Amino acid sequence: MATTSLDPGEGAPGGDAPALLDVHDLTVSIGGDRLLSQVSLSIRSGELVGLVGESGSGKTLTGLSLMGLLPANSSVQGSIRFDGTDMLAADGERMRRIRGGEMSMIFQEPRASLHPSRPVGKQIVDVILAHGAARAADARRQAAEMLGMAGLPDPWRTMDAYTHQLSGGMCQRVMIAMALVCRPRLLVADEPTTALDVTIQAQVIALLRRLARELDLAVLLITHNLGVVSALCSRVVTMYCGQVVDDDTAEHLLSSPRHPYASALVRASDVSLDHTGEQSGITGVPASPSRPPRGCRFHPRCPYAEERCTEETPGLEPTRHGGRTRCLRSDELVLPGVGA
Ligand SMILES: Nc1ncnc2c1ncn2[C@@H]1O[C@H](COP(=O)(O)OP(=O)(O)OP(=O)(O)O)[C@@H](O)[C@H]1O
Ligand SMILES: [Mg+2]
Repeated sequence: MATTSLDPGEGAPGGDAPALLDVHDLTVSIGGDRLLSQVSLSIRSGELVGLVGESGSGKTLTGLSLMGLLPANSSVQGSIRFDGTDMLAADGERMRRIRGGEMSMIFQEPRASLHPSRPVGKQIVDVILAHGAARAADARRQAAEMLGMAGLPDPWRTMDAYTHQLSGGMCQRVMIAMALVCRPRLLVADEPTTALDVTIQAQVIALLRRLARELDLAVLLITHNLGVVSALCSRVVTMYCGQVVDDDTAEHLLSSPRHPYASALVRASDVSLDHTGEQSGITGVPASPSRPPRGCRFHPRCPYAEERCTEETPGLEPTRHGGRTRCLRSDELVLPGVGA
């Protein structure tokens, strides 16, 4: 297992505060297929970080690794430190206390994660009691209070509701309440707005922003949607083919991306601003993380690839303005961002 430095994640942009979460060289295989390779990222207390990348790039697997929720046939190398605890060496009891207590995750499909035939209030109370966070009499009050904080208009009535009686947006608020009721320090939110229409998406983002501030919560927001990221996050980690390829402030990523894939993602998410009238989607098919191309994993799709990109493997190197990027040509390229 790799040792972890006291550094807040090698070269993570912004601030000197020690990292709340520090993932270093995380490599995950499932059933013998290597799906994550040397993923490194860090999050400080109260920081809102986006995790973006195309489908299959390894975002959810990264989130599941943090939570200790990988399937049984997985093998994990590297290190995950949460508030000083080595998560990969933590025993089951410590892991159970951290998961749902100090660190929690919201999954993409809220209805699938809630029990259909148990009132939602009881499900939140179950979480509180499982973590010993309150006695039974107090747990109901705390659950209702959290539903209120999550913006449900009539929390005591919602306590007795079943998921089929609630809209998608309300279910997502219930999930957020359930994830935050034990006052975790880190929330991993996997596509929390994808299933929702645009107006409700904006409300859920505003809610997460408010709760993060009120509860001093760090958030790792997993999404395809750069618009959602820029509305919430100060920093964005970009994944491609099971690797972190870029780590930058949201502002810098959108205006002057350092990695050709990050640039392509930013432009693909901004089709409406493409004044050429052409779709700026990313051409080519994502490479398979278990059978990656030689050299830079993005080179078969990269318009800037040179001969050496097909042979040399780029490392995740610090950039001049405090980010990190994995491109052999990052110093010489000037790449288009939003609206370019
Ligand atoms: N339980 C599993 N067993 C085998 N392979 C898996 C498993 N879970 C994920 N994978 C594979 O790992 C890779 C990364 O998957 P992951 O779910 O992390 O992608 P993602 O970035 O979250 O994509 P999406 O945006 O579609 O949610 C994919 O190639 C996927 O097929
Ligand atoms: Mg996913």
